Amino acid sequence: MPPAAPPRDDTPAPDRGVDLSVEIAGVRLPNPLVLASGILGTHASLMERTARAGAGAITAKSAGPVRTGHNNPSCFAIEGGLLNAIGLANPGAAAEAELLAETQARLRPLGVPLIASIFAGTVEEFGRMAALIAPSGADLLEVNISCPNVADDYGEPFAASCPTAAAVTAAVRAEVDMPLVLKLAPNVPNIGRIAQAVVDAGAAAICAVNTMPGMVIDPTSGQPVLDNRSGGLSGDALRPVAVHAVYQVRAAVDVPIIGTGGVSTAAHALELLSAGATAVGIGSAVYAAGPGLFAQVRDQLAAWLLEHDLTLDAVRGRAHSRPTPNEPPTPAPVPHHVPEPAA
Ligand SMILES: Cc1cc2nc3c(=O)[nH]c(=O)nc-3n(C[C@H](O)[C@H](O)[C@H](O)COP(=O)(O)O)c2cc1C
Repeated sequence: MPPAAPPRDDTPAPDRGVDLSVEIAGVRLPNPLVLASGILGTHASLMERTARAGAGAITAKSAGPVRTGHNNPSCFAIEGGLLNAIGLANPGAAAEAELLAETQARLRPLGVPLIASIFAGTVEEFGRMAALIAPSGADLLEVNISCPNVADDYGEPFAASCPTAAAVTAAVRAEVDMPLVLKLAPNVPNIGRIAQAVVDAGAAAICAVNTMPGMVIDPTSGQPVLDNRSGGLSGDALRPVAVHAVYQVRAAVDVPIIGTGGVSTAAHALELLSAGATAVGIGSAVYAAGPGLFAQVRDQLAAWLLEHDLTLDAVRGRAHSRPTPNEPPTPAPVPHHVPEPAA
């Protein structure tokens, strides 16, 4: 049987009977496409606009102790991705709680959940940041553990070891009742073990993955292009890393996963869903194409499901089961081109 045709960018809007809704820790999303943290998540108006443009959930930019961030250049486009060292610039968790409350008032009538995001420099500080954010009324709390642990001799991220990742989860769990989404880093030998550790410590869901450390050097000057020298790689180049990470996390734990990394089309989203994701984060592609990308990917996804007579439940995790001999393989999505930026 020939492989199924990939979703086309000119696919007409499908029959609205296709159910795209998914659930993460008891929170209903109208569709599985989530605005990733750090992209457009700094203003209530931008987050509302992104929800109206078709996102199934909105993640705010990570907040924690007040930081001005790194100097420019802090973001650099390369072939196949972005390298950024924004440096977690944020107004502080107390101010963030006010922004989240205002945003939640705008999103609730739209039925689009709000995901708060926190970072910190120590385990105890994570607990304090969570306590400041909880009164905002956000639906889920994402805990970004890709930031450096200042108590570690080498400043390794909390996400790099099971004990520190679990300690952060437990500290946050002790402070708030909100369902926790632990956002993991891709640059670890076995992300499944980290996922297991945070789930055992109280995480209700996993977001995989954050950016991958990288560096670009200007060949003429011989100097790194980012003022911070190194940064985090995102976009197309990250996608196979994210697909593998989601596959490993799904094999290790049975909680919802927000698969994130390099998604700009429904074919990309289908890869992550097939690896085991319940929802799919989109960051860099929205940075490039604008919030209109959400409706485009959502409608492509619905059209593909309709065309193949499949549901999201049937697609989720199917990469983990191999077809038995003599049975035709289920249609696999074929990676294809990135859509034109939205007008
Ligand atoms: C400019 C920029 C800023 C980001 N800021 C954050 C952040 O504040 N917190 C966080 O958890 N992830 C942050 N990320 C990581 C994204 O949420 C996402 O995990 C990553 O970019 C991979 O997805 P993508 O390839 O769709 O961009 C940032 C990414 C970019 C490109």
